[in-house]
Amino acid sequence: MSEMSSVMDAERVFIEHEHREMAERIDRLHDVAAVVGTVSSAELSFALGGVLDWVKATWEPHAAWEEAWLYPRLDALTCTSLPSRLMRYEHGQIWDATHRLRNDQATLRHELRHEEAVELRGRMYALETLIRAHLDREEHLLLPMLDGTTA
Ligand SMILES: [Fe+2]
Ligand SMILES: [Fe+2]
Repeated sequence: MSEMSSVMDAERVFIEHEHREMAERIDRLHDVAAVVGTVSSAELSFALGGVLDWVKATWEPHAAWEEAWLYPRLDALTCTSLPSRLMRYEHGQIWDATHRLRNDQATLRHELRHEEAVELRGRMYALETLIRAHLDREEHLLLPMLDGTTA
């Protein structure tokens, strides 16, 4: 095995490990979204804060590492920047969705009306979907490019 391919293997193992850990926290986001409208705003604010703290502490450094290290290597290997540009765009979508939820959390000082709860739940499920879809694309489209197993 060449030195280059063992580095790629190590990166792949690292990403897959981080994504597996993220899956548990994304499940938590789903669970918090499911109780919007059934718990007090104070409880919801606490639970949503935990999700947003995870995004800041785990998701953001992960995405920053990918943009600084992984995606440039992918560009060099594939001789195109299109896949990484798409992934960076999706990072931006996730960041925007998270920012909206931070604003939502700041307004949870009163009990939500039904329409507010429905909208908030929708934005939380949207973030969940964005993250799940992004991780899926990285694992099934990008990582195979790293080791040359894609067509
Ligand atoms: Fe990513
Ligand atoms: Fe990732």
